[in-house]
Amino acid sequence: MKTNDIGLEIRESKPLVKKLNDLLANYQIYYQNLRNFHWNVSGPNFFELHAKFEELYTSANLAVDTIAERILTLGDRPHSSYAEYIQHSDISEALQITEATKMVEIVRNNQNDLLNLERKILEAAGEVGDEGTVSLMSDFITEKEKVVWMLSAYLR
Ligand SMILES: [Fe+2]
Repeated sequence: MKTNDIGLEIRESKPLVKKLNDLLANYQIYYQNLRNFHWNVSGPNFFELHAKFEELYTSANLAVDTIAERILTLGDRPHSSYAEYIQHSDISEALQITEATKMVEIVRNNQNDLLNLERKILEAAGEVGDEGTVSLMSDFITEKEKVVWMLSAYLR
């Protein structure tokens, strides 16, 4: 049995790393969508949304780094280029969105897409005894569910 530096079986970690890399790619596109909205939002809710998008991209920035470093901890290479992110992301780049409510809706939907991926990773990590990844996904999920609730409340 070949193991990585932290003693997990490489054969079992490989599919998990692939999922983490998919999450990383999706997160990077989501991050850029938030930057886009932070810059381009306008209207009566400008100050509130401009600040909220900044808060969310700051949090996404930390999450991206954590995911990439988890992949390295598991002994693999994180996707590190925009070409790879675009290739592996199901979340699409938000282009030419001008309406503030539509921006919030896109952010909420992106968060739901990330949440679905994180739940799948949580399950897969549990199956191979990767407690570190389980715990990480668990934290991500808890935080994200709260944000999705808040964004959904905003949109009602
Ligand atoms: Fe700014």
